[in-house]
Amino acid sequence: MNILVTGGLGYIGSHISIELLKKNFNVVIIDNLSNTSLKVYENIKLLAKNLKYEKDILFFNADVRDKQELEKIFNKFIFDAVVHLAGLKSVSESVNDPLSYYDNNLQGSLNILECIAKNNINKFIFSSSATVYGKPKECPIKEDQEVCAVNPYGETKLFVEKIMSSISKKFPEKSFISLRYFNPIGAHKSGLIGDRPSGVPNNLMPYITQVASGSRKELSIFGKDYNTHDGTGVRDYIHVVDLARGHVNALMYSENLVGYNSINLGTGEGYSVLDIVRKFEEVNQISIPYVFSERRDGDIDECYANADLAKTLINWESKLGLAEMCKDSWNFEKRKK
Ligand code: WQD
Repeated sequence: MNILVTGGLGYIGSHISIELLKKNFNVVIIDNLSNTSLKVYENIKLLAKNLKYEKDILFFNADVRDKQELEKIFNKFIFDAVVHLAGLKSVSESVNDPLSYYDNNLQGSLNILECIAKNNINKFIFSSSATVYGKPKECPIKEDQEVCAVNPYGETKLFVEKIMSSISKKFPEKSFISLRYFNPIGAHKSGLIGDRPSGVPNNLMPYITQVASGSRKELSIFGKDYNTHDGTGVRDYIHVVDLARGHVNALMYSENLVGYNSINLGTGEGYSVLDIVRKFEEVNQISIPYVFSERRDGDIDECYANADLAKTLINWESKLGLAEMCKDSWNFEKRKK
């Protein structure tokens, strides 16, 4: 199968590209390099060589907002499927600059969907997020639970899901699958690819690894009065390699999944900020100094998945535990140049 991965040089996209190569798919990557670098492309090719993957992995420096450029790429290949991740992904940034989120995430996705319709491509896998649940009414969260985006980033994910659901009625032979990611952390075992945020990390794990490496003084834990077992925020952390495997399974089972489906990709386990800090310290034998600070705007008490539907529909469940997530995150940080 010929697979196009948009955003394929990003943190999650690069791990998906590797899992697709392991299944010997033909992979074409497009990325505008706004949040990554060509070094990731070099490392994907190195990992492919180690996997004895003989084929070329093609990369196009392209922006999904550039319709003409997209059409040129779609005219070069006959794609069997598109895995669409290209987009902006910071909640706080989306609040400060909503229009760039609608432009990148919404217009970009519309351009891709138009190319899929025009080129008779029958499999579309979309990178969505647990953010679509807003402040969940209850945990674990099932896919049929009420959705309610509470920031522009989450709105863009929800808008694209609604568009997928709506156009699936026009194209009943196509498979539209929205994968709702919980909190991806960890890195490829090689330490060659991983989460490399630019500037001050928004997310917990990259901040912890930078404290561990000494490039940040201490972790600020945003709030200790949440309605959780220890007062700190609870999330469903999932190893990025497990997340990537979920996309391969979605592709392989998409034949039986025509129409629109949204599927949680989470472990079903909730861990607090303090749980993560303590596990990281234990697994890596390293101390993580922290202070408690004010709550961060928009944060919620807890968010973790009911992951049963993924098992039923795409025969997927997470396999890697918190220890591997902490070990692999630190291994990547130590190798990062
Ligand atoms: C996790 C917990 C923080 C940093 C976001 C997006 C979500 C997805 C993943 C894209 C929370 C606490 C964090 C820090 C802290 N991204 N924390 N100190 O907010 O659950 O989800 O990233 O799809 O859409 O919303 O992840 O890692 O930012 O925070 O105490 O320096 O860690 O309060 O409880 P979040 P996170």
